[in-house]
Amino acid sequence: MRPVEITKGIYDVGVIDWNIRDFHGYSTYRGTSYNAFLIVDEKIALIDTVKKTYSDQLLDNISKIIDPKKIDYVISNHTEMDHSGALPRVMHRVGEDKPLYCSKMGANNLARHFPQKWDYHAVGTGEELSLGNRTLTFLETRMVHWPDSMFTYLKEDKILFSSDGFGQHYAGHERFDDQTGDDIMLHAKKYFANILLLYSPLILKLLDTVAQLGLEINMICPDHGIIWRKDPGKIINAYAKWAKQEQEKKAVVVYDTMWHSTEAMADEIAAGIASEGVSVRPIHIRSSHRSEIMTEVLDAAAVVVGSPTLNNQLFPTVSDFLVYMKGLKPLNKIGAAFGSYGWSGEAVKLINKELETMKFDVIDPGIRIQYVPEKKGLEACFDLGKKVGQAINEKI
Ligand code: FEO
Repeated sequence: MRPVEITKGIYDVGVIDWNIRDFHGYSTYRGTSYNAFLIVDEKIALIDTVKKTYSDQLLDNISKIIDPKKIDYVISNHTEMDHSGALPRVMHRVGEDKPLYCSKMGANNLARHFPQKWDYHAVGTGEELSLGNRTLTFLETRMVHWPDSMFTYLKEDKILFSSDGFGQHYAGHERFDDQTGDDIMLHAKKYFANILLLYSPLILKLLDTVAQLGLEINMICPDHGIIWRKDPGKIINAYAKWAKQEQEKKAVVVYDTMWHSTEAMADEIAAGIASEGVSVRPIHIRSSHRSEIMTEVLDAAAVVVGSPTLNNQLFPTVSDFLVYMKGLKPLNKIGAAFGSYGWSGEAVKLINKELETMKFDVIDPGIRIQYVPEKKGLEACFDLGKKVGQAINEKI
């Protein structure tokens, strides 16, 4: 139910997308929300909009509080169209001549999305906008996760409007962390692993900048999911851990299989890893979405990848996973490869090449088994698992 007054005079006027299950290749099994925030002071500001499809719902939510024409400033923290798609309808209702605040890159990027000649006010870190009794301060967060990304900080209330940062793809009437409990952390972790992981070095810098600026934060309002008000420090600390790519004593064995041979190898490798006291999850790629697998990869110390050879190549789903993981740039992982084959058996070599490109520490040439693994082959798989487990124990 929106709007929700999140604190006096500040409203979440965004919308819930209950039914989305695929967000540009990310599995959103709990749906998502597109949050937008209305600050009603002497001047009235709207921070971000929603997906184009929900333009009317956003305007209806705003209209329950004020006439949209009374909005003085529109602020766009991020150009991606889940937050800017409704801008044309919003600006039309608010007034095409009203100031539109965004970062310098935001002005460039919005102009490449929309032909309208809006009155862009490009702002940089530290610039302020007074609403009367309240002041907004802008903080550029370039490449977290688009060139145009920025945060907006409301000084007097100590609220950080953080765009995609600290968000989660989660649809629910619960609006705050104290209403969802710890379950929400899994959604936040998945969001980080699949959207932000490759920008980890920039996120660490950003967290340093926030610390240096001495920004006190009572509440973090992301553009997706719940608002952090009970313990904003919890999600900030989690981001610091994830961005440092801190690892657990944990391995994932990611594989696909044609006739269960590579699967049998995966099970033995996982058993070998577990025998060293290391937590392990064998994951069949066609049973788990790639975005779920990346969530497990985030804090794993080792990724062992298995593929049958199909037409002298990797099995296509394994190739998809490797390309996806490579783009997200996980760092400092131990790697190994395995797979069953019929007559040529290129898959292990191809996996090793990809893992080396990702700068994984490939600790073994890998295991290839023709057709169906027998006892000796399965023992070799168990031993590879033990080797991976021991390498993790030495590392962590
Ligand atoms: Fe939620 Fe980068 O858009």
